[in-house]
Formats: sequence, C-alpha cells, structure tokens
Amino acid sequence: MALNAFDEKMFELRLERSRRDLFDMLERLYGRHPDYARFRHSLEERMKAAWARRPRDLKWLDMKRDLEPDWFQRPDMVGYVFYIDRFAGDLNGVLSKLDYLEEIGANYVHFMPCLKPRPGDSDGGYSVMDYRAINPGFGTMKDFEKVAKALRERGISLCIDMVLNHTAREHAWAKAARAGDRDKQDYYLLFDDRTLPDAYEKTLLEIFPETAPGSFTFDRTMEKWVWTTFNTHQWDLNWANPQVFLEIADVMFDLANKGVDVLRLDAVAFMWKRMGTRCQSEPEVHMILQALRAACHIVCPAVIHLEEAIVGPQEMLPYLGRGVHDGKEGNLAYHNSLMVQFWSALAARDTALMTHVLGTHFPSVLRNATYATYIRCHDDIGWAITEADAEAVGVTGPGHRAFLSDFYEGVFPGSFARGALFGVNEETGDKRISGSFASLAGLERALESGDAAEIEHAVQRIIMGHTLIAAHGGVPLIYMGDEIAMLNDYHYRENPDHAHDSRWIHRPRMDWDAVERIQRGDMTSPQSKVWHGVRHAMARRKATPELHAGYAVRVPSAPGRRVFALLHEAPTGPLLCLFNFTEDTALIPGEWALSEGVTSFHDALSDLPAKLSDGNVVLSPYGRLWLR
Ligand code: GLC
Repeated sequence: MALNAFDEKMFELRLERSRRDLFDMLERLYGRHPDYARFRHSLEERMKAAWARRPRDLKWLDMKRDLEPDWFQRPDMVGYVFYIDRFAGDLNGVLSKLDYLEEIGANYVHFMPCLKPRPGDSDGGYSVMDYRAINPGFGTMKDFEKVAKALRERGISLCIDMVLNHTAREHAWAKAARAGDRDKQDYYLLFDDRTLPDAYEKTLLEIFPETAPGSFTFDRTMEKWVWTTFNTHQWDLNWANPQVFLEIADVMFDLANKGVDVLRLDAVAFMWKRMGTRCQSEPEVHMILQALRAACHIVCPAVIHLEEAIVGPQEMLPYLGRGVHDGKEGNLAYHNSLMVQFWSALAARDTALMTHVLGTHFPSVLRNATYATYIRCHDDIGWAITEADAEAVGVTGPGHRAFLSDFYEGVFPGSFARGALFGVNEETGDKRISGSFASLAGLERALESGDAAEIEHAVQRIIMGHTLIAAHGGVPLIYMGDEIAMLNDYHYRENPDHAHDSRWIHRPRMDWDAVERIQRGDMTSPQSKVWHGVRHAMARRKATPELHAGYAVRVPSAPGRRVFALLHEAPTGPLLCLFNFTEDTALIPGEWALSEGVTSFHDALSDLPAKLSDGNVVLSPYGRLWLR
C-alpha cells in the first residue's frame, strides 16, 4: 500500500523520534547475528507497511494520544477485566453489556485471552495456536473489530493478551518445526538430549510444580527436548532469534490495527535464558521490551504496553523502565506488592509490613508509566515477601508466608477466609492461594454462618480494597464479579480441562441475576452494598484530580499500625488517603494529619465532614477517608 506524502512524512518523524530507542536495543541483542542487516531492513519495511495499513480513525487516535501522552495516567481511568464467554457468552454479547461497563465507570476493558487457543486445556487461553485469529467460540476477527470500534466510540480502551514467551505446540510454527523445518525449529529452544536441560534446571524455579514439573518436555516426533517453562503444551519462543522478534512485532502491529489500545504482554520475565540463572528478568528481557515498545511507538503511538511480571518490587520496577530504560519500557505493570500487602495487612490486622514495603521500595514518581493496581485477578496469589522485609517489622519470611497461606486457605484458627491451595511446592514449602475476592475477604464463611456483623465486615473489606486501588494513582482494575461480591465457584472440579487448576475457582460465570436485582432497587444485600461501594469509589476517583499518576505519591507511616496511608503530593496541595485494616474503630491523631499537610477534615471520598473525637480522626471498621 502506497503512503501519501503526509503519512510518509509522519512515519519518518516517528521513526526519527524512536530510532535510537529501537535500534540501540536491537544492535545489542542481534547486532552480531549474520543476518542482522537483512533483519533490520525487514523490520523497517514491516513497520512502514503496518502504518500504511492503519485505519484512519486509529491514525487520529495516534495523533490525539501523542498530544495527550498522560491519557492513561489520569484519574478518570478505571479498568474492568473479564472472560468474554463468562461475562457475555461471545463477542456479540459484549455489545449488549456496554451500558453495564459504563455504569460501573469502566473506560478500559481487558478481554482475557481471546486469540485462538489450542483445543482442550489451553491454560485459560494462554496457549495460543494462532495470533491472527479470534477464539472461534467467541466469534470472528470481524466481530472483534466491531466490538473494538463500539468500545472506542464510547471512549473505552481495549486491552488484550499477547503471549510473548510461548506458543501452543499446535501453532503453525511448532507444527512446521515438528515436520522438520529447520528455520522454524530455531523459533523454539530444542535440545537433542538432557545435558543442557539438566544443567539449566539446576537453577530454574518450578512454575506449576504439581501439574507441570520441570521446564522441558520430550517431543517424540522430533526426538528432542523442548523448553516449556509453563505447561507441556506451551513451547517457549527463542527470542535470541531475530526472526522471532520480527514475527511477534508484526502480530502486535496487526492487533493494534484491529483497534487494540493496550497490549498485555504475558509472562515477559521468562523471555531470555542464561545458564546458571533462574532465567527470569535477565537484562535482555528489558532490551526486547524497550524495542517492542519503540516499534509500537512508531507504528501505532496510541497503543501502550502492560507488562506482566508478578514478582517482588526490585524485580518488578524495571518493567516500568528504570535506568537506561527510564520512560521507555512498559507503560503499565501490575502492582503485585500492593495486592500481596493488602491481603497480608488484612489477615494480620497490622499495616506495618505494608507501609514498610510500599514506602521503601517504590519511587514516588514514574516517568511515562504507572501501575495497574488490583486486588484480585485470574491468577493465584503468591506470597512475594522477602526475608529482609519481614524481619524489618519483626516477623520471619517463612513464618509470615506460611501464616498467609494457612489464613487464606481458611485453616488458620479464626480465619475469616475461604480459599484453595495452588502450586504447592513440597521442596520449598511454598504454597500459593486461589479464591475470589469475596470468599477470601470472608463473605462466603459469613453468609454460611449467617452472622450479620461478619457479613458487614466482609462487605467493608471488599469495598475498602476497591477504594485502595481507586486511590493509589495507578489504573485500578476491577476483576469481573468482584463488584458484585461473587463467591468461589466450585464447578471447575467437574470440568476435566479445569479440575487440576484451582485458579478456576475464581473465574466464575457472571451473575447477571444479581445485577438485575441491584438494578431493580435491591439496596440491602451484600452484593448490592459492594456494587454501590465499588461504583462510588471509582466515581470519586474520577472526581479527584490529585490522583493523577504523574504526581508524586508517598507512604507515610500512620500512627498505630492499624491504618495504611497514602499521600498524593499534587501541585494543588496534598491528598491524604487513610484505610483502616481492622474490624475495630481506628483513631488517627488530627495533629499527625495536619503535619502531613492536611488542611481540611472534610472527606473527599464521602464528601462529608470526617468524624473527629478528642482531636482524633475516626475511622470506622475497615473505614477509609481521603483528606485534602
Ligand atoms: C501469565 C498468565 C497465567 C498463565 C501464564 C502462562 O502469568 O497470567 O494465567 O498461566 O502466564 O501463560
């Protein structure tokens, strides 16, 4: 497709803007490859062709977002994450749910994996056999484009998963590799015998220790061992091969041209392998991600990248661009620590560890980036808490992690939670947890016992969690069903493709009957209270300019370990957000709030005066206040 003079010039300008961000990285990654010159040329050609194919309305969006590069950092951003089939049946069904999305305030939706997966167990769609086709159960690419357009017309951004680390073993590349195609064999990491796999495995960690132990799978057709970090049907791509970069970049441009706004780059930590390491978050991973980011910034600047690396702070922050990659890598990355610390403080009724971790390890501002904040998602919760952090507040790492898994499994004496174990590692003693927000927060147990006070506590915990992500400054992601307090779904045990994977306990089908009851005026059920609470928190977020992610945020230590505090240092003055993590009333000295810069005891969240008693600010059980 020929470019007109304007588009030609535009492409040149954008290429110039990001040239070094792209080619400096590629040079370092692939400069010594015999085919480097051809690869480089080919990438430029593909970028230009993708820009030429880009639909007009998306070119306008590129322009708009180039003019408003902070669009995803603004407080009006609210995300909603769902499985297409479990939320709406199929893509056409999504069209009938747009009003609902608007009603809860979402202007960003994440369709859980929607590209064509392998048949049977596909790891929830993360085992993709065709990146250029939609899951036939959800509809066609045409349907997808129609939905993307409808969302765009309502100002709702669309995020989809792009699995970078592996393809399904049914992908055409893997099939060709199995049929003996040497070029395609070089897309994967194959070994003739166990010598190298054994050597690598000395330092690799188990991802799914119970269901897919080891990181290599023997393929009988090729008689070779294949690197499979996750499940045996997920073949790791060989990112040391520039051809893989080219292919994947081209897929990303195509998805962008179908109307995708946010690419969620899945399992990125594992993309580069180095003997003697865990093969996670190696420096080359960040070079690849910066290069992919720069390539999209040239072809489709409206598109941003959400990088998925569910790891501790030191390892996670680089995904948002640190050091040489500052401002040039992920625009978004999951704030795993905020999620883990929420659950930790809730179980312990003590915010000291949360304040320590969030206050010491995270920079007060990020350039050109922010966090995706969440309390629950489709995955399990791993207790990523280091020994040093635990010890800083007087507990031990192994002790606290064991306490948290027992608490959320529901076996710790007095626990309010009900969850399921996931990824139990006999060797390390590590236990992860599955469970829905509501069940982990105590609603399932409370409803069974019928204890009204406990039900109310659970409701307040769920609303408090949502208010925390609304107030953090990153993009809050509401996980489907949490806004109506959906409980654990035990049906997964009856489905042979899901029974082995307890994460399905928190991937329910949307309860539209409950939504209908709420819409018809139910104001008193726990579901309704949560729904109104979540919606209110998101609406208040939109009305609070201090929550722009571009402003500095600090974590002051609130007196008394019951309350967690966040301080937004907006140019118009500070906003102090307080969260009570206990079922008791908490008192925070007014003097302390004043010393943090608060000038008014009017609560910006409820838009009512804060309750004061003897010079203290009063927070009800699980209460929250936003003070200016
Ligand atoms: C990501 C997904 C997870 C999946 C894994 C392998 O971590 O969130 O659900 O199992 O990647 O693709």
